[in-house]
Amino acid sequence: MFTILTGAQFGDEGKGKVIDLLAENYDIVVRFQGGDNAGHTVVVGGKKYKLHLVPSGAIFGRRLLIGPGVVLNPRVLWNEIQALESEGIKLDLGIDAKTTIIMPYHIELDNLREKARSVKIGTTNRGIGFAYVDKIAREEVQMGDLIDPALLETKLDEIAPAKEKAIADMGGDPTIVRYAPYIDEYLEIGKRLKDRVTDVSREINIALIEEKSVLAEGAQGAFLDVIHGTQKFVTSSFTTAGSACANLGVGPVMVDNVVGVIKAYITRVGEGPMPTELTDDLGAMMREKGAEYGTTTGRPRRCGWFDAVLGLKSVYLNGYTEMALTKLDVLTGINPIKICVGYELDGETIGYPPESTRELARCKPMYEDMPGWTEDITEVKEYDDLPKNARDYVERLEDLLGVDVSAVSVGAGREQTIFRDEMEE
Ligand code: GDP
Ligand code: IMO
Ligand code: MG
Repeated sequence: MFTILTGAQFGDEGKGKVIDLLAENYDIVVRFQGGDNAGHTVVVGGKKYKLHLVPSGAIFGRRLLIGPGVVLNPRVLWNEIQALESEGIKLDLGIDAKTTIIMPYHIELDNLREKARSVKIGTTNRGIGFAYVDKIAREEVQMGDLIDPALLETKLDEIAPAKEKAIADMGGDPTIVRYAPYIDEYLEIGKRLKDRVTDVSREINIALIEEKSVLAEGAQGAFLDVIHGTQKFVTSSFTTAGSACANLGVGPVMVDNVVGVIKAYITRVGEGPMPTELTDDLGAMMREKGAEYGTTTGRPRRCGWFDAVLGLKSVYLNGYTEMALTKLDVLTGINPIKICVGYELDGETIGYPPESTRELARCKPMYEDMPGWTEDITEVKEYDDLPKNARDYVERLEDLLGVDVSAVSVGAGREQTIFRDEMEE
């Protein structure tokens, strides 16, 4: 069985929590895009794990894979492995030999470019965009190169002059490109990771032939996708479900389920339009109650009402077979709860987001009100035990998006989850 899970909004929907839960039923959990711009939180037994590169099936002890479509900072990965193993979590982790390596100069370029922009993107400053540029430009360093010092040196000889020039042109220090201590550190980490290098496509295809189950873990979310998102305020990878097959080297007919993780409201970190953003006390209340601060950067997340107009587009982009609705508990005590069901754009009413980011920024949300509830729902285990207004809210979202909500999350803990049907089993 092959399941793809992606974020349905602007990232931070609670993918880590849902992956951890689902991992119980899977043999392999594999990351297919993004890098350590991702921050996926798993809370088990009151203990919080913040994962940036290691797939969120780690706590369940599954076979974990990092696919070749990921951009990987070896330092971050090494520190993460060390931190998890020091907590007694044994990792069975494989990294594809073709995984793109984020070099220190990518981070420097990301910083310099962001500083120079008159309109900022608000990147995570992890070098993500510049590492992907090098992949497409065929000037990347790959995981396999870190275990072959001679190959790395030859590659850097070829790549370095253009990077040095680019950094110097932006007012940075070009010596970072060939700074020996960094290169030695990367080679040292390469040595330590050598035995983990694998061919992810081959592993996954063999696993599927052997009737094992594979869960592909998306990072970021639909509207941060570099093609379909709100350019230029996006990340540099393909974040929708279709990208999992291309990035992992698995044929599309192998896909059985596509799970969308969607928050009961909406958040965004970084710049770019979000039509239902609440800049008032209610938005601040959602941020505090939902602990909406970036897992990777600590930045406050912008909060707003659930946007079913964007939601529908996300369903189209990903082809969800089911959804996990997270953070319903954060809406407890709010009355009424608003759902955006249309936009007004230049005097017209529309039910689907415009393609242009500028037009999206001009859209005024049109709301429908739903009655709230006051009961604490964080310990609820059965769907029918949720207050009627909470159920009505969930079912209204299903109607608007045309996809079943098969799990409702009512707290950060693994056990704070209500399953409605058997989730893709
Ligand atoms: P991801 O990037 O999609 O994995 O999401 P993050 O981990 O960045 O952000 C989600 C945050 O919400 C984390 O702090 C989670 O522990 C937390 N969380 C997940 N599900 C729930 C939920 O249902 N209720 C509450 N209150 N918190 C949740
Ligand atoms: P997870 O996987 C939320 C945002 C950044 C910025 C834009 C581009 O935890 O959901 P980048 O560093 O990728 O070039 O930044 O994308 N961004 C995220 N926002 N969750 C994420 O990951 C994100 N990864 C990147 O804030 O706006
Ligand atoms: Mg996150």
